[in-house]
Amino acid sequence: MAVTILAIESSCDDTSVAVIRDGYVLSNLIANQEVHMSYGGVVPELASRAHQANIVPVTHQALLKAGIKAEEINAVAFTRGPGLLGSLLVGTSFAKGFALAQNIPLIEVNHLQAHVLAHFILEKDKINRLPAFPFLCLLVSGGHTRIIIMKSQLEMEVIGNTIDDAAGEAFDKCGKVMGFTYPAGPLIDKLAKEGNILAFRFAKPRINGLDFSFSGLKTSFLYFLRDKLKEDPEFIENNKADLCASLQHTIVSILLAKVITASHQTGITEIGIAGGVSANSGLRNEMKKEADKRNWNLFIPEFRFTTDNAAMIGITGYYKYLRGEFSSHDIIPLARY
Ligand code: KG4
Ligand code: ZN
Repeated sequence: MAVTILAIESSCDDTSVAVIRDGYVLSNLIANQEVHMSYGGVVPELASRAHQANIVPVTHQALLKAGIKAEEINAVAFTRGPGLLGSLLVGTSFAKGFALAQNIPLIEVNHLQAHVLAHFILEKDKINRLPAFPFLCLLVSGGHTRIIIMKSQLEMEVIGNTIDDAAGEAFDKCGKVMGFTYPAGPLIDKLAKEGNILAFRFAKPRINGLDFSFSGLKTSFLYFLRDKLKEDPEFIENNKADLCASLQHTIVSILLAKVITASHQTGITEIGIAGGVSANSGLRNEMKKEADKRNWNLFIPEFRFTTDNAAMIGITGYYKYLRGEFSSHDIIPLARY
């Protein structure tokens, strides 16, 4: 019998619902919340209100697009955390209601694990390449920067972590300093394509082992601009592309250096990237170059599975379903998982 999972993602500012059947994505809808743009970051209260408004219509559309009736769903997977508590509460409550109404199991999913498992989403009419284990994955998002070893779909070990800001935060905070709206990552990526990566140099952290730090870079970028703006008030406007290219190059080199070390230390050459920042073209290109040079078997997710999406929650839910890992209805969301 086919296993069909309804998946709900509401950890931050995107309301996403997906339908996954036997590991294949049948639909994956995302409602973005534009209300946060002018605030320079996600406003939690506005996010949960928007999730409340979006969750029913997005679920309806996801079922329609998949051509699946509510009665055909075998289990509901939902993001339990980490994330914004108010946002998580909306998805969790909705998932519980749906599971109760259909009398089907509820499956909690860790959002970070799901980002990594995005590599296992199957798509129809496509040759699906899946990583073998052990699989080394750089998880880079707005809230997290980690190096993870996956021993199986549901067994992971974190071997590197950020000690302060995440890579996505470095993009977003530096973007904010340049006057960009949130999230700044995609715009920096776009402008960087026209700029010189070596135009400016910013401080790189010296952190031992496989951990990361990005708060020093943010400060270095801020002070650099403050000084330059004293000489030329139009400095940012006149050097936008070069600033973006140099900043992106710095962030990508910090990430890449740790992945190379991690691969050396563990001997793992099955390597991937995941999370919102893995959409970055600089990171994708540099990873490809490095993979060619070092004979890595490289896995880069499709753009639509890099930033927050419910298909990744669904694939994680699917593997948990196969193992019979279900949650009880008194489960509560966790801001920190
Ligand atoms: O995974 P994600 O959607 O949400 C979290 O779980 O945090 O990641 C969002 C982050 C934001 O910081 C955003 O600026 C960054 O991913 N991002 C990018 C790009 N696309 C999204 N950063 C750099 N280049 C991009 N193309
Ligand atoms: Zn995420």
